[in-house]
Amino acid sequence: MKGILLAGGSGSRLYPLTKTISKQLLPVYDKPMIYYPLSTLMQFEIKDILIISTPHDTPNIEKLLGDGSQIGMHISYKIQQEPRGIAQAFTIGSDFINNENVCLILGDNIFHMDTEFNIFKSEVKKNMDNRATIFAYEVSDPQRFGVVEFDKNYKAISIEEKPKNPKSKFASVGLYFYPSDVVKFAQGLKPSARGEYEITDLNNIYLNQGRMSVVPMHRGNVWLDAGTPNSLMDSGNFVKMIEERQGIKIACIEEIAYNRGFINDEQMSDLIAHMTPGQYRSYLELVLNEKQRNR
Ligand code: G1P
Repeated sequence: MKGILLAGGSGSRLYPLTKTISKQLLPVYDKPMIYYPLSTLMQFEIKDILIISTPHDTPNIEKLLGDGSQIGMHISYKIQQEPRGIAQAFTIGSDFINNENVCLILGDNIFHMDTEFNIFKSEVKKNMDNRATIFAYEVSDPQRFGVVEFDKNYKAISIEEKPKNPKSKFASVGLYFYPSDVVKFAQGLKPSARGEYEITDLNNIYLNQGRMSVVPMHRGNVWLDAGTPNSLMDSGNFVKMIEERQGIKIACIEEIAYNRGFINDEQMSDLIAHMTPGQYRSYLELVLNEKQRNR
């Protein structure tokens, strides 16, 4: 399965923070925002990733993550000339997708889940090749999001983009899995009233064809979007609180790569050796030493 990380957009809701810096490179506590969605793709074992961003920001993101080989991944880049909507990711990425199944994650979405990843994975696996899978999370401000209406058996019956009168409190999160025919449907989309190719229009195609599974996320898991001043601050505070309390790191891409066997001991040592000294590097040294000791 291929992965697309969409890190475009003008970040208008975060202006002036985003006047010179891409939203996805802003800090969420101790890491750039993009580490969080990247780590989610890694947790789904997706190693071949296309990052789509603006002409201005793509070189900086590339400077940060390179070709991904240092963490056992393959990362390539494509430019979205203008912010024309999320669903455009599939037309920009059509050559990259190359008739495979594909996962799309939005660059400002942060997931903190434990064993639920395994439930998600099996759900996606069950559906793949023919059905799309998306996830819904109960929020207090659904009008900010795509909103999913369920029937009493938790079968999705409608998805509406930023409705004034939401039919439920379930937001559709920025993590989407599609079979390869998503490219064809994305190519046929018409821009919405606000001039964007809407991900919700794409999702409704699958829903109307009876080929969409919307999985409600359990309330014990955490989903945050860091796209507004408040949610950016909340996300940073959340990460800080968990990391300090537990002495672990969330979305530490090198640790995930090492623990999942994307890289071996030698590659991990090499990565650490080339890293600027500081708390992030010390943490990785600890991860490496502890794993070697426990063998
Ligand atoms: C986008 C989607 C929306 C989804 C949200 C998740 O909205 O259009 O359906 O619920 O991401 O973060 P945006 O944040 O781009 O306004």
